[in-house]
Amino acid sequence: MQNNVLILDFGSQYTQLIARRVRELNIYCEIHPYNNLPENVSDFKAVILSGSPFSVRSEDAPHPDLSEIRGKKPLLAVCYGAQYLAHFSGGEVAPSNTREYGRANLSFVQEGEVFFESIGKGSQVWMSHSDTIKKLPTGGVRLASTGDVENAAYKIENEDTYAIQFHPEVYHSTDGKQLLDNFLIKIAGVQPDWTPDSFVDTTVAELKEKIGDDKVVLGLSGGVDSTVAAVLLHKAIGENLHCIFVNNGLLRKNEFSDVLKQYEGMGLNVKGVDASARFLDALAGESDPEGKRKIIGKIFIEVFDDESHKIDDAKWLGQGTIYPDVIESISVNGPSATIKSHHNVGGLPDFMKLKVVEPLRMLFKDEVRRVGASMGIDPELLGRHPFPGPGLAIRILGDITADKVAILQEVDAIFINGLKEDGLYDKVWQAGAILLPVQSVGVMGDERTYENCVALRAVESTDGMTADWVNLPYEFLQKTSNAIINRVKGVNRVVYDISSKPPATIEWE
Ligand code: XMP
Repeated sequence: MQNNVLILDFGSQYTQLIARRVRELNIYCEIHPYNNLPENVSDFKAVILSGSPFSVRSEDAPHPDLSEIRGKKPLLAVCYGAQYLAHFSGGEVAPSNTREYGRANLSFVQEGEVFFESIGKGSQVWMSHSDTIKKLPTGGVRLASTGDVENAAYKIENEDTYAIQFHPEVYHSTDGKQLLDNFLIKIAGVQPDWTPDSFVDTTVAELKEKIGDDKVVLGLSGGVDSTVAAVLLHKAIGENLHCIFVNNGLLRKNEFSDVLKQYEGMGLNVKGVDASARFLDALAGESDPEGKRKIIGKIFIEVFDDESHKIDDAKWLGQGTIYPDVIESISVNGPSATIKSHHNVGGLPDFMKLKVVEPLRMLFKDEVRRVGASMGIDPELLGRHPFPGPGLAIRILGDITADKVAILQEVDAIFINGLKEDGLYDKVWQAGAILLPVQSVGVMGDERTYENCVALRAVESTDGMTADWVNLPYEFLQKTSNAIINRVKGVNRVVYDISSKPPATIEWE
């Protein structure tokens, strides 16, 4: 068993951040909901209890049995976790009467404690709680305080059990990473040996073992996740991996042929299927955004099903699922309504009856990129902006025609290539163009025109949940607008979208 840390999730909004910080220390960790402990708890080297929106005093709050963990493994309890240990072990937790939210500074730190090594008085920590620990549990020894919170950190005598009221995983806790390092490496003795290279080695070995001589089908999208998943599988099973790359007619200009060539250059066994006409026919006359998404999803499944039947004896379906999707589906609150479903009126398509293999299911997006880089995947491919599955269909407002797709592809190509040429592409998280259902008057030469308007959108973001528009240089916007209007027939007006998310979204539909 590798050096592995278990994070027990009590439903805090910060639980994923704990995992990210631990992984930044090159230590592998897994999040499991408190009410569904993994069977191999004894294999984990250390355990972290997360925060929670609940009060320990409330009856419906998480109150798991920790008898297999506490005193048996190094344990770090964060926020709710710290209160939970106190509440059920002879301490006292009560509503706090002072403000305990936001930045605070440690006013006392117990000297000589490895837990606080290299962290001194004055260190900034981030608090977010409404209960406070009035009395420490039996055997509790105070290790730190802030101006408002007397028991900001404690340990239990004769155990490797530590508890903190603040959140080390939040960047505003300036020594948070040091504290996790002190606990995990110095106290718990976990080795920081989890790197992209070691991930590739262990994953390829596991995939070989699991899949043997079976065949795997995988749908490539041109994006980072499916590509990295394919390269890992290819390393493990070679030609037994059969990739399918579908052109839905809504990709960027030349993307289908360019990306297909790139995949072939990487040695992948890939079949390009041009189903543009089938998608465009099915979309004809549909202008409702959700209607378009449903049609595209349905046709994709049909095309993929047809193609996977052509591969004899495929036993597995490879997918580029990543950790945030997995966490969402096993969350404390149960699978949420946002999980993508593949319900089809006539029952499940045949390919969905295959066994599923998801080599990236334990990785965050930035880790997927690092793993891709360590396998030598082209940095340009790894740095590609996100692109929605329904493609240009949700950037053509209203109904879709082949002509509109062609116009938008030209506009988008000028914009995206311009960003690349001017060294702006990597400063932007996502960019694209939108074809508006608006015609406006213009003049070209001596003639009046009545043509289309396009909007350009470029945002910065970390995960797409929130986003802000990018302050692109005026000179760049000017040059791009001129190029679009001069070169793309049918467009006589260009606007730049200066809305943030929220309240706007990144896409217009
Ligand atoms: P919004 O528009 O919701 O977009 O702010 C957030 C991120 O999600 C992408 N997006 C989609 N991706 N299918 C996808 O695969 C969709 O239907 C879809 N809608 C939005 C969007 O491009 C952005 O990265």
